[in-house]
Amino acid sequence: MNDLLIRNANLTDGRTGIDILIRQGRIESLDRQIDASGLPELDAQGNLLTTPFVDAHFHMDAVLSYGLPRVNQSGTLLEGIALWGELKPTLTQEALISRAMQYCEWAVAKGLLAIRSHVDVCDDRLLAVEALLEVKRQVAPYLDVQLVAFPQDGLLRNKNALSNLQRAIAIGVDVVGGIPHFERTMADGAESVRILCEFAAEKGLRVDMHCDESDDPLSRHIETLAFHAQRLGLQGRVAGSHLTSMHSMDNYYVSKLLPLIQEAGVAAIANPLINITLQGRHDSYPKRRGMTRVPEMMAAGIDVAFGHDCVMDPWYSLGSGDMLEVAHMGLHVAQMTGQSAMRQCFDAVTSTPARIMGLEHYGLAPGCYADFVILDASDAIEALRLRPVRRYVIRRGKVISETPKPVATLSLPRGQFAVDFRTS
Ligand code: FE2
Repeated sequence: MNDLLIRNANLTDGRTGIDILIRQGRIESLDRQIDASGLPELDAQGNLLTTPFVDAHFHMDAVLSYGLPRVNQSGTLLEGIALWGELKPTLTQEALISRAMQYCEWAVAKGLLAIRSHVDVCDDRLLAVEALLEVKRQVAPYLDVQLVAFPQDGLLRNKNALSNLQRAIAIGVDVVGGIPHFERTMADGAESVRILCEFAAEKGLRVDMHCDESDDPLSRHIETLAFHAQRLGLQGRVAGSHLTSMHSMDNYYVSKLLPLIQEAGVAAIANPLINITLQGRHDSYPKRRGMTRVPEMMAAGIDVAFGHDCVMDPWYSLGSGDMLEVAHMGLHVAQMTGQSAMRQCFDAVTSTPARIMGLEHYGLAPGCYADFVILDASDAIEALRLRPVRRYVIRRGKVISETPKPVATLSLPRGQFAVDFRTS
């Protein structure tokens, strides 16, 4: 019945030598030296135990499609969108499911147990929607997938986008998406935000929009998103993804904007791997960083998560489902190298996206699901530095993935080193 006693774990809050008693897939207690004879035991050996990694921004319909039907030569966002448009008519449900299932296996091995994936609804067949709903059902025992109805070609720019989005929601997609900066005009962008937020409020749904993924400092749809979230009482249920234009905005305007986002309870999801490569493409030197204002938003009390966004697709040729790689890039781009700042970056791929997605029973407290990752590292900062193997991935008290500790064997004769590390 998924009862287990985990011994000698280090936790992200700095506690060490902690035992965790699990009964029926949930945490019963956490303490030093728990007595529970007869239960199966797992020795964490003083390694870091964390709640699972969570990716609040991904595109599972495009994952692992790199090179289909051709490679993105310019590496830009707009060529990526055009390339996705070429690929869409050739997609089959079988191929979509097979690629997404492959990625879900990678994710689990990396301790990534919850993913919010956008799914393009601008294909009238809703092929990708049906495929990802099937994937969601298949992986449910070990991975939580939350789907966002995403009108990639623009809610107002594509004539069937709104009705397709509503059909997708009707058959089980969870969250309302949008892409206001891709509409024909700023006014249409703002109108799309109004329509989508009102639809979400009427249906009692969460909202997560691609918002201002642009270097244009005048792309200010986040202001409209915060306005409607506040007006419609959607606080705590709305996220703005990317928000890269904020990087280039006037500081005075941002000083007004951040309190409005915080007041509206709107969260932000930055995607450092993708935006450091896609943004600033029209710059000569100096080139802007392609990421929103992460530490400033955190300081203003706004929930900020880091998302993976893409793995081997028309927009990004790399990636492996490792949220530590995402956080590692995020902390570099945001210059968040202080001790507490690095811990905030670890939270940005664990507890913060869990809160944004509204995951229930996520946490390290009695009553929470016994979902954990034990890493080959002693604390969160070492985990960020090394991005080490995930020794055990545990779901509802059961080990679902295990990776052996890597051991390096030096083949030189004992006492003879190519370099004397002690003096160099
Ligand atoms: Fe995205």
